[in-house]
Amino acid sequence: MSHRFDNKVCLITDQQALGAASGIGRATAQKLCSLGAILALSDINGEGLSETIQLCGGGEKHLLSTFDVGLSEACNAFIKQAMERHGRIDHIFNCAGVNPTAYALEDTTDEYWDKLVNTNLKGTYNITRAAITHLKAGASIVNVSSILGVTASQNYAIYCATKFGIVGFTKAMALELGPRGIRMNAVAPGYIDTPTNSGVVEGPEGVKAMVAKVALGRLGTADEVADLVAFLFSDESRYINGSIVEINGGITRRSRAAGGQVASDNTGSESERQIIAIMNLANLPSMRSFYKVILASSRDYSDVPLQFAAHVLM
Ligand SMILES: NC(=O)c1ccc[n+]([C@@H]2O[C@H](COP(=O)([O-])OP(=O)(O)OC[C@H]3O[C@@H](n4cnc5c(N)ncnc54)[C@H](O)[C@@H]3O)[C@@H](O)[C@H]2O)c1
Repeated sequence: MSHRFDNKVCLITDQQALGAASGIGRATAQKLCSLGAILALSDINGEGLSETIQLCGGGEKHLLSTFDVGLSEACNAFIKQAMERHGRIDHIFNCAGVNPTAYALEDTTDEYWDKLVNTNLKGTYNITRAAITHLKAGASIVNVSSILGVTASQNYAIYCATKFGIVGFTKAMALELGPRGIRMNAVAPGYIDTPTNSGVVEGPEGVKAMVAKVALGRLGTADEVADLVAFLFSDESRYINGSIVEINGGITRRSRAAGGQVASDNTGSESERQIIAIMNLANLPSMRSFYKVILASSRDYSDVPLQFAAHVLM
């Protein structure tokens, strides 16, 4: 990428890292710093913040602040501090978040709901609302959704609610801020090798299960998400607004049942399930193969009309 961020102020919420592993926020701070940015970094974990700033070469010019993004007063104070210190805010990466744990809904608690919703969703709202009046034309914001913000998965209802919520928030705010020349987009990472990814926490078996679903045959890295965020901040993405950019190496979420029948993991639309049922009932091998290609090539075919599939089968 040729774009540089010299003298641009980039604000990032999320700087923790455990051991040698890096989270997405830290990797993005390092990337932007290497491109000349002045940073305003926050995290609920002060130790992680200090480590990140050392990795960025230290320096007085960056601002660090430790607080919970779920608290609006703390977010207001951080934005005020950033304006007092740097005089401007050019780019915001709303990255602070809690990665999910698999729970049936009846096993979740008010505390779990509050933690995920207050961090993943309300934190993004708090920082954005506090910053809006200070942003000028050319500024941009990137939020973090997830693969679980664009497709559902059982036992992750609360995390999905927050990450689907980020998608709606991003698209609506892109319309609200666009006329002022300010862009908002979101990244939707798949399985990224960070210390709190639930599969990574689970260990080698968890990692193997994730990798098995990735067409590129490996987990993504925090650096690869950082490259995308830097691109979305840059002028090279100047016409991208309100987009949810998936970064997942190509994910297949469908399994194929024995006997050539197409099986669904129940995450598809009602029309998709009906189409699959018709294919199987009709027992037409060539049509099933055709539909498998569609399934394999795209996750976003929920608008395929049932009538069309029925017509093709006639
Ligand atoms: N790793 C993945 O596979 C993946 C996939 C999709 C989306 N994401 C999202 O990317 C973002 C970064 O995740 P990561 O994998 O780098 O994990 P991470 O745990 O390294 O980063 C999350 C950061 O958020 C901070 N944080 C948590 N609660 C906070 C709060 N209340 N206030 C302020 N900071 C808080 C943590 O201290 C941590 O530094 C999250 O929003 C996560 O949901 C991650």
